[in-house]
Amino acid sequence: MTNSGTLNPDAVLHLDRNENLYGPAPKCFEALRSIGLEELSVYSRDFTRGVKSRLSERLAMELQIPEPQILLSEGSEDMLKQAVHCYLGPGEKMLCPSQSWWYYQKVAAEVAGETVTYSLKEGPDAFSYDVDELIELYKKESPRVVLIASPNNPTGNSFPDDDLNKLTEAFRESIVVLDEAYWGFADVSNEHIASLVSRYRNLVVLRTFSKYYALAGARIAFAAVGTSLSRLTKFSARYLGYNRISEILALAALDSAEYYETISRQMRQDRQAYYELFRRYKGFRCFTSDANFILVKVPPDAHARLQDFLQRRQIMIKFFSEPEFVNCVRITLGTQEQNARLLSALSEFLEAREARGGLA
Ligand SMILES: Cc1ncc(COP(=O)(O)O)c(C=O)c1O
Repeated sequence: MTNSGTLNPDAVLHLDRNENLYGPAPKCFEALRSIGLEELSVYSRDFTRGVKSRLSERLAMELQIPEPQILLSEGSEDMLKQAVHCYLGPGEKMLCPSQSWWYYQKVAAEVAGETVTYSLKEGPDAFSYDVDELIELYKKESPRVVLIASPNNPTGNSFPDDDLNKLTEAFRESIVVLDEAYWGFADVSNEHIASLVSRYRNLVVLRTFSKYYALAGARIAFAAVGTSLSRLTKFSARYLGYNRISEILALAALDSAEYYETISRQMRQDRQAYYELFRRYKGFRCFTSDANFILVKVPPDAHARLQDFLQRRQIMIKFFSEPEFVNCVRITLGTQEQNARLLSALSEFLEAREARGGLA
């Protein structure tokens, strides 16, 4: 990405990291150009008005949640770390999905906690949570912290509202972290957050500006938290304020709803193009996703060859080596042009394979 917001077409194409390659809204670049001495050299004085910052104030207003229940962090990785470090003691258990973002399975160990994993169910076209099985496991393990993600990375599935309510109700005795990092790529509704955090006092909902708002480099995120989580609220307070530049970028992003909704609509179509392509070839299964990525299961003999084929074309997608994702790849959606480049390479690979009778 250059400072004018365009991508270099000759560079290696990274569709392996779940970034939003459309980049942030033009208003974010304008806001960046307006940064001056005040934002660079002076601490924010927002606290004099009894709020954390202009950003937490704005989010509170938009989400209809009291400002003290909005916490800010340097990305949602940071807030996840803070929540786990704050509540999980040595030897205590944290439940998290086995098929998930790798960091979930590392964070408990940072505080000598124990990770207990639960499995998502693999259907023919989509993954899903088995809510009843998860509640049974919860009763057996009595974890201090439960981590759930919607949409989940890399499986792409979300929680239907009813399941979310059933789970949060069942987990009342624990700290529940709901990671919504990939919010917005299928559904931009926000109403559930206010209702969840008002009903569940131990709930932390994580949201980031990295994905939907394409501001991963600005490292800014927030959490909406239930009223019992004063320890986390105090732990995360920053008395000298937050990164003023990132806050300005986040505010400009919030002012650009239409820009992001257009991208989200485009991505819904782009996901279809990948589903349709893979559907045509025997042995390939594309799982439906609500996020800016899709998970694809490829025939065992095609995995390494596809990796080599795409690498030679300077296109990176994620090839998993973990046992939970044997023969799986994850494709991050890029811009329309980038998707066209990958789709064309994939078609070439798949056609050639088909011509050899379906073997790599
Ligand atoms: C599921 C999930 N949650 C959280 C994050 C962290 O994002 P950030 O720290 O940029 O907000 C990631 C990053 O890829 C992720 O996949």
